[in-house]
Amino acid sequence: MSKVLIAHAVSVDGYITGRNPGAGRGLGDAGMLFDWYFDGDTPSQVFGGFELSGPSAQVFDTFAGRVGAIVAGRTTYDASDGFGGGSPHPAARVFVLSRRPAPEMTERQTLITTGIEDAVAAAREAAGGKDVGLMGGGVATEALRAGLVDEVILHQVPILLGGGRPFFRSLPGHVRLGLVQAVPAPGVTHLHYQVER
Ligand SMILES: NC(=O)c1ccc[n+]([C@@H]2O[C@H](COP(=O)([O-])OP(=O)(O)OC[C@H]3O[C@@H](n4cnc5c(N)ncnc54)[C@H](OP(=O)(O)O)[C@@H]3O)[C@@H](O)[C@H]2O)c1
Repeated sequence: MSKVLIAHAVSVDGYITGRNPGAGRGLGDAGMLFDWYFDGDTPSQVFGGFELSGPSAQVFDTFAGRVGAIVAGRTTYDASDGFGGGSPHPAARVFVLSRRPAPEMTERQTLITTGIEDAVAAAREAAGGKDVGLMGGGVATEALRAGLVDEVILHQVPILLGGGRPFFRSLPGHVRLGLVQAVPAPGVTHLHYQVER
């Protein structure tokens, strides 16, 4: 069975954006959360144009290479200008989770309005045996709430942003995690956790 994973760049105080993110404004005042994509000399084998440090490239490409389909939250989709009509991943189809119509959707994108279970099921089907990646803190929380997440990866950047969109929202109880790997790298620490059931 393919896995469901969520891998985000996050501040030490738990934000995946800064203040005032949105279409045309990227992560708001937190653009530095993505600096590690471009601060090395090792090209990513999955994402053209990314040049990372050696340790970051190894971690990033391992996860990016596992992903065969993406479930993205509507806020992420809107903030990313609809991924330019494509997908946030060069080889993975995107399923956008929303409760609202999205008339601008292209044939490379699928809108799911019937909830996280249906979105993950559709993404699994499209992933062809590969794993499903989740994008957005709201989607991450919905999937955790539904018991659908297998792995959580924090690309933790050493900054306290003090505000923004939080990675994790309120949950009805505890979710226990087991640390699989911690990789320190220039400008970021990669923390790979497995959800314990
Ligand atoms: N740092 C990183 O690595 C990283 C990665 C990805 C995204 N981001 C940023 O994170 C921000 C967005 O994250 P977010 O947490 O605010 O939002 P999000 O998870 O992208 O989207 C939340 C929206 O998804 C829809 N949704 C969620 N659960 C649903 C359900 N069960 N059924 C139907 N629809 C559901 C709802 O859309 P409706 O309101 O339409 O119902 C909800 O408002 C963006 O600014 C993006 O750029 C950062």
